[in-house]
Amino acid sequence: MYKLKQMKGQKALVTGGLGFIGSNVAHRLVGLGAKVTVYDACLDPYGWNYANVREIREHVRVVKADTRDFDKLCAHVKGQDYVFNCAGQVSHLDSMKDPWLDLDINCKGNLNLLEAARRFNDQARIVYCGTRAQIGRAMYSPIDEAHPTNPVDIYGINKLAGEKYHLLYADVYGMPVTSLRLNNVFGERHQMKHCLYGILNWFIRLALEGRDITIYGSGKQLREYNYVQDVVDALVLAGQSRKAKGRFYSISTRKAMPFLEMARQVVKEVGRGRVVKAPWPRERKQIEVGNVVSSYRKAKRELGWEPRTSFEAGLEKTVAFYRERLPEYV
Ligand SMILES: NC(=O)c1ccc[n+]([C@@H]2O[C@H](COP(=O)([O-])OP(=O)(O)OC[C@H]3O[C@@H](n4cnc5c(N)ncnc54)[C@H](O)[C@@H]3O)[C@@H](O)[C@H]2O)c1
Repeated sequence: MYKLKQMKGQKALVTGGLGFIGSNVAHRLVGLGAKVTVYDACLDPYGWNYANVREIREHVRVVKADTRDFDKLCAHVKGQDYVFNCAGQVSHLDSMKDPWLDLDINCKGNLNLLEAARRFNDQARIVYCGTRAQIGRAMYSPIDEAHPTNPVDIYGINKLAGEKYHLLYADVYGMPVTSLRLNNVFGERHQMKHCLYGILNWFIRLALEGRDITIYGSGKQLREYNYVQDVVDALVLAGQSRKAKGRFYSISTRKAMPFLEMARQVVKEVGRGRVVKAPWPRERKQIEVGNVVSSYRKAKRELGWEPRTSFEAGLEKTVAFYRERLPEYV
């Protein structure tokens, strides 16, 4: 089993650091003693929220800036030991409605970061948040790092390009870069304003408000839900590991579960809400990928990472968080 190293005096930049995954990374880094700069453009409808850094506000520097602004990135990449690259356009549906925006943020933004690092800090450890959406529909199961990549939406294609840019900079310039392909991540500090992405957290809101949770189709498709603190461990561990340089890893769970089962567990944990079924809307059906079961064997073998939190335990912690703080997230 892995143990994260202390990071006293080390400097880390977290792009998208006011968002869900980025802010949880910032919390962990502060806990390990790092000096953290959060770099976030505060773009809507994404998950940025100053409440996400409330408990660590005294210990982090917050820079409101965009990854599409090359000069700003250059200024803030200088002197960092680590960059956790969590900024992104994160909605599958929006990537289809506005492909130019997705291209701009998920390709140009990432290229800016890599060029800034290459010119001013080429030994910073960079960890990129990739996604299982880079794969598309499963051709075999469990999905591993050798699986072909055929994304079914613009988001998946541009995230894949983002990963390939990162790995290219490792290959050509020897930069210490790693990509983790994350599955559905849930947990504390996720936005609950809308259901454009982060469906499990959205279901928690519906249940807390005693509303109906609509499942399209049979709900039998298998999915994986990773608790955010396990994912944060994987990101920090990848940054600390020598072996991970120039590599990419699939990050997943011990057990996939039917989508319907996930919704029922949310209702059970919250003790309110109701699951109802409806036919698939056309725009969602078009980008639906069916069963997704992935393997984290490579991450376990090379990084020692494996998920520590069961789905039930993660859900309990998440619901407890929002019972207290829901008004800050809706
Ligand atoms: N949450 C998941 O289930 C999941 C799964 C796979 C991959 N990912 C990836 O993880 C990363 C973080 O996602 P999240 O779930 O925390 O989303 P989020 O919306 O909570 O956070 C994203 C943050 O990035 C910021 N941002 C967006 N564009 C920016 C730009 N151009 N410059 C600076 N900041 C910008 C937003 O303001 C927001 O705070 C993304 O790259 C996403 O693709 C997330």
